[in-house]
Amino acid sequence: MSEILVVHASPRGERSHSRRLAEVFVTAWQAANPGARLTRREVGRALIPPVNEAFVAAAFYPEPDARPLPMQADLAFSDELVRELLSHDVLLISTPMHNFSVPSGLKAWIDQIVRLGLTFNHTLDNGVAQYEPLVRGKKALIVTTRGGFGFGPGGELEALNHADTLLRTALGFIGITDVTVVDAEGEESAERTFQISAAEAEQRLLALVREF
Ligand SMILES: Cc1cc2nc3c(=O)[nH]c(=O)nc-3n(C[C@H](O)[C@H](O)[C@H](O)COP(=O)(O)O)c2cc1C
Repeated sequence: MSEILVVHASPRGERSHSRRLAEVFVTAWQAANPGARLTRREVGRALIPPVNEAFVAAAFYPEPDARPLPMQADLAFSDELVRELLSHDVLLISTPMHNFSVPSGLKAWIDQIVRLGLTFNHTLDNGVAQYEPLVRGKKALIVTTRGGFGFGPGGELEALNHADTLLRTALGFIGITDVTVVDAEGEESAERTFQISAAEAEQRLLALVREF
């Protein structure tokens, strides 16, 4: 049975379009998977700590099994987020585009879950860095909304979309390569423009339920 982790990244609550669309999927998914485990992780309205010097020292400590206790404490929240990610097989991220990328809370979450020895490995091959993903068997669905228009595949502004590429790249780096993006655009255009785009996104999401 599938287990889903829902990561919400908008700083907005009830007014958030990305959150609302993602919850349309969640409701349908729960109906299709009665009793399945669902966990929500808030990264848009709760503070996810940014990487600091202590985190870097602890995360890249050369003998991870012999990390001093204070360093273990510095990684405790990151450990929790990694365990949470690894214990679900479906990852749903809802996020707005913020300044051509993702909101800082979502970036902070990524920085917490991309962890040496837990979600990826690093070795040297003749002095050249090699990276190995450690996460297996997961699928991700990204639900994203944007104020502008044309950031999707083939769109005029696609090259400026550093949100989808960041998420696909970072998730792929740790081994989550099965990633589907559903977007709704034009929230800052005429109301009708966004309504049409959001309605299309909703239909796509409902059609995707059986694949997750
Ligand atoms: C700080 C900030 C930065 C934004 N940057 C962009 C942007 O670069 N491109 C874009 O199309 N829309 C941008 N927007 C608009 C949001 O992506 C859009 O309103 C989105 O639907 C908000 O999602 P939400 O309702 O889930 O919060 C920005 C909005 C905010 C608040």
